[in-house]
Amino acid sequence: MNLTSQRPRLIDLHPAPADISALVRAGMERRPRQLPAWLLYDAEGSRLFEAICEQPEYSLTRTEVALLETSAASIAAVLGPPAPVMLEFGAGNDRKAGPLLEALKPPAYLALDISRSALETTCASIQAAHPATSVLGVCCDYNALAELPALPELAGRRRLGFYPGSSIGNFDPAEARALLSQFRRLLGPGGLLLIGIDQPKAVQRLEAAYDDAAGASAAFALNLLNRLNRDLDGDFDPHGFRYRARWQPEHSRIAMALVSQRQQTVRLAGGRWTFAAGEELISEYSVKYSPEAFLTLAAEARWRPLGRWSDAAGDLSLHLLGQTGAAQADST
Ligand code: AVJ
Repeated sequence: MNLTSQRPRLIDLHPAPADISALVRAGMERRPRQLPAWLLYDAEGSRLFEAICEQPEYSLTRTEVALLETSAASIAAVLGPPAPVMLEFGAGNDRKAGPLLEALKPPAYLALDISRSALETTCASIQAAHPATSVLGVCCDYNALAELPALPELAGRRRLGFYPGSSIGNFDPAEARALLSQFRRLLGPGGLLLIGIDQPKAVQRLEAAYDDAAGASAAFALNLLNRLNRDLDGDFDPHGFRYRARWQPEHSRIAMALVSQRQQTVRLAGGRWTFAAGEELISEYSVKYSPEAFLTLAAEARWRPLGRWSDAAGDLSLHLLGQTGAAQADST
């Protein structure tokens, strides 16, 4: 076997253009207008998100990577043998899976991400670093994926889902509950889930993390307009909108929005839409959960806690979850 020429397999289940158009039109009809957060991640958006992770104000990624490095062995010990196959939901880079792959040595690693370019890079670098693991990529919206492709690498093995970055915060609580149920389906009976949850903290710190001084957060959100212009036949004037991030305590979330600087009409996805001056287009939310609030939500989707690892400052937790009912036999 020639390891240097081994290229990870990639399965492309990216939503079709007509489906994306329908989603965008529905989002433009909402009040406030709001588009699916995954639209932010075209090739340029994935690159800009990496730039956000480098900003001093955005500590989430650094804290989580450090926490994974110190806790991967202990997570592996709780899981016990045999090593499960690992599925990462939203695998735009290889930094987070690395420590877990080291500790778990799973026979297979399946990366799911909406951005094909980011997925290719992640898979290639993980395959190079872990030649004994079969690395596979699925380009998809994991939230809408009806089922996993039937892969021999997954057959007959326990599955560990990995959902880092507090990405569940992009969804409102009802959607988040549905996503946790979706993960149950994709991971199957006996499946496990390791999920990173960013916690509420001082408002100033949160607002700075989502509106950094260097402008990476603003550039990331504004890139959405370029993407819409290119892929959905839009004619947004990127200078006609300004980025704003604010904490909404009643929802325990950061709302990120592009604010129209004047009244203007734009063409998009076969329609025409008028924005009032000051009207917002929500690019994404980032909901923050306390560990207790998160576990309540998880329980509603029939996940139960198996372990929790937190950084010293209490900014963020990794929760290991098992399925309610799956281990009933142990407790009797
Ligand atoms: C990838 C959804 C976890 O909410 O912190 C960061 C996205 N957007 N800065 C987050 C994001 C702007 C990020 N997630």
